[in-house]
Amino acid sequence: MKELTVRIKRFNPEKDETAHFESYTVKVNDGARVLNVLHAIHDTLDPSLSFRYSCASGQCGSCAVRVNGEPVLACMEEAKDASTIEPINLPVKKDLVVDLLPTLEAIAFFQPVEHAKLPKKSEIDAMKPLKDCIECLACVSVCPAVDVTKFLGPTAMRQQMRLSLDPRDSGDRIADAVRDGLFTCTTCQACWKVCPKEIEIPSKAIEKLRAQANQRGFTLPRHLEVAVLVRDTGRSVGRTGPTLAEILDANVVEPVGPVRATVGFFVGCMYTVRLPRTALDAIEVLKRNGIKVIIPREQVCCGSPLIRTGQLAFLETLKKRNIDAFRFRGIDTVMTMCAGCGSTLKNDYKTPFKVMDISEVLTKYGIEPPAYLSIKATYHDPCHLLRGQGIKDLPRDLIKQVVDIIEMPSICCGSGGGVRSGNPEEAATLGSRRGEEIKKTGADVVITSCPFCEFHISGHTDKPVKNISTVLLEGYKEKDRLKGIRPER
Ligand code: SF4
Ligand code: SF4
Ligand code: FES
Repeated sequence: MKELTVRIKRFNPEKDETAHFESYTVKVNDGARVLNVLHAIHDTLDPSLSFRYSCASGQCGSCAVRVNGEPVLACMEEAKDASTIEPINLPVKKDLVVDLLPTLEAIAFFQPVEHAKLPKKSEIDAMKPLKDCIECLACVSVCPAVDVTKFLGPTAMRQQMRLSLDPRDSGDRIADAVRDGLFTCTTCQACWKVCPKEIEIPSKAIEKLRAQANQRGFTLPRHLEVAVLVRDTGRSVGRTGPTLAEILDANVVEPVGPVRATVGFFVGCMYTVRLPRTALDAIEVLKRNGIKVIIPREQVCCGSPLIRTGQLAFLETLKKRNIDAFRFRGIDTVMTMCAGCGSTLKNDYKTPFKVMDISEVLTKYGIEPPAYLSIKATYHDPCHLLRGQGIKDLPRDLIKQVVDIIEMPSICCGSGGGVRSGNPEEAATLGSRRGEEIKKTGADVVITSCPFCEFHISGHTDKPVKNISTVLLEGYKEKDRLKGIRPER
């Protein structure tokens, strides 16, 4: 047996105006789950504590709660001392019991066709990854689009995709998905990261539904414009000044001292065309740390804006051009500094080379310590770095070499998945939320690692938004200044 103390968020609509936390100490068996702790509290300390459960084995989905902020199944999550237990982020009925009904009722039902044929094995295989949902609604509770639009949510989209694959179903699943908010998803990937059944809703449902919507002519006009731009220029954004290639006259940048490593640099549209100075900052940091950088000029858009919006017509051409650009130079490590490009190259390509985010490259080879800058910073996790590439600590460890970080909740800024261009109001609402969280930290500067986040967040905060490389370079410049070294001209 062991003794645990937990805090539980309590709310009784009959007597409370607002929710409050209460602490409980109980004895449970070693290896107890959160559900066992809730039972122990209910049975020995407070029979009024309300929570849902049924199967106690991860099968019914009724026990979802947030433990230390993360949605989990109470019956599967190991109970730990000093945990905080709250309801998932849906309207609360009492204590840990939330109102599931409006969301569950909105999930589409099967509509049988007359004289249906049985599905083929390939169709069954395609449906399989979408069938395991236990309707816990953890995914819905973390979805930024659900929070600010009328989007029916990730599991409703999962169901539409599943039904669209089933020859026995007669519904117009694509039109229904578009009606229910298909294009409001920011592809932040929060839903599948919390799903206890690991259903990859963004790639297995949202993007596939969007691809079918494209075939049916439902693609949003702004998304179509982006596809035309990529087709005609190889880039997903138009130029507003000199590009990186025009500023940097060489394709190869040698480091200051001996070569410790060589990387190919996949720059991405934003850093090539709109924010080339930020790419130059990164190159300076790499140079200073002995990393030779090769920047093939043949590289084009990675295709992320097309994949996320379901426009796949010339995706394979882009992929081939990009892979060839690096392969023909014998490059074995390709570095990205755009979270979206990195996630796309890692997850949507089959590359003959290794792909690493710049934070992975700098961590692997180690960096010369920069000077410490006495400013307060906060860090925004780009969705496609945190969830798309599983990179959380590396950027923080690098940043902490220059400035102190004040943490803020990791939420989507609203710029991804074509939402900034296709649903600007939604993007602005989510951007404002990000801006509010930044304000609460009291930080002087916001640091991130994605050009789309940098660009979007800049419009929703009065603080400067900087790339990690820019901050590291500022640390080096300060170090040189303190040593009396004049900057290169
Ligand atoms: S990827 Fe993000 S925005 Fe899209 S459905 Fe999942 S949680 Fe919602
Ligand atoms: S998709 Fe996953 S997280 Fe969402 S309701 Fe189903 S099981 Fe729960
Ligand atoms: S009680 Fe059924 S999934 Fe937890």
